[in-house]
Amino acid sequence: MPLISLDEAVAALSKGEVVAIPTETVYGLAGRIDREDTLKQIFEIKSRPFFDPLIVHVHSVEQAKTLTTDWPGIYADLANAFWPGPLTLVCPKAPSVSPLITAGLPTVAIRCPKHMMALEILKRLNVPLAAPSANRFGHTSPTYSFHVENEFAHNVNIVEGGACSVGVESTVLSAEHKNGQWEVKILRPGGISRLQVEDLLRKKEYKFTIERVESSASPGHTKHHYQPRSPVVIVESFRDQKKLQQEIEQNLNKPVREITWLKLPNSPQEAARLLYQKLRDLSRDENVIAVQRYPEHSSGDWEAIWDRLERAATLYLK
Ligand code: TXA
Ligand code: MG
Repeated sequence: MPLISLDEAVAALSKGEVVAIPTETVYGLAGRIDREDTLKQIFEIKSRPFFDPLIVHVHSVEQAKTLTTDWPGIYADLANAFWPGPLTLVCPKAPSVSPLITAGLPTVAIRCPKHMMALEILKRLNVPLAAPSANRFGHTSPTYSFHVENEFAHNVNIVEGGACSVGVESTVLSAEHKNGQWEVKILRPGGISRLQVEDLLRKKEYKFTIERVESSASPGHTKHHYQPRSPVVIVESFRDQKKLQQEIEQNLNKPVREITWLKLPNSPQEAARLLYQKLRDLSRDENVIAVQRYPEHSSGDWEAIWDRLERAATLYLK
């Protein structure tokens, strides 16, 4: 069992090893940002393409500022409101930040995680940690240590930190000042909702626009991502089970033995927390996982969940 203690994790990370650590969103595959060999190892373990940039984790705003050439007041306010927490800020990168982390982009994505153990590790190490989600590229993200273990067998040391309390990844956001106002872009919806961001910026009297932009601005956030072992089918309107099975078989061009329904709790927070575990639990041989999309799931708090489900899905039936 590759579980290691916090002390051992700090020692290993300090030596340049890669360690899976808990955060409040998902488990991350962490390595110190100042070692190229360590960064390469992260990509290798995940089978992750180099065009997909990594998020850098810090213990404080002070440490974040060492990674960027600009920390505008709007970022200071966002960090003050939501850090530690599931918000990642995209900033112009300092020259010292390796292009391996940023996939050659002029920007670096930074966040401060809200998990006691992650923060403790970051403080003791006092070097920022690059950490993508601790799963193979394209697979479902891990919200328990045993998910990480199943994903990488015995090749990765893991710090046990319990179940992740948020359950979906951080919101990735950028803000640029243009023509007298702030252009805020949500590059990946996540643990902090657009509404929470809007409320804060209004309260602080910023002039701003906010929009969700699709994945080209957030390179790794590709269309097919977060996929569990069984195909996921999103169903928008009712059809009886037999008709549904026929439609799925026609579209997937193969027989389906069982349709297993993913039932989401009514609370979006609870749904986010359970989502990845449920996708794993419901994966069986020759089944499909069907999930009903209800109109009441269109509210802002559901945005991250449906973003993940749409990317996990093989088929969308209107
Ligand atoms: O909650 C999280 O953010 C988790 C935990 C471990 O902190 N980490 C995570 O990392 O989700 P990862 O590597 O699975 O997703 C990072 C994504 C990239 O795929 C990309 O979409 C976006 O963050 N990203 C990173 N750097 C960026 C940049 N400079 N500009 C735009 N998007 C960036
Ligand atoms: Mg990921």
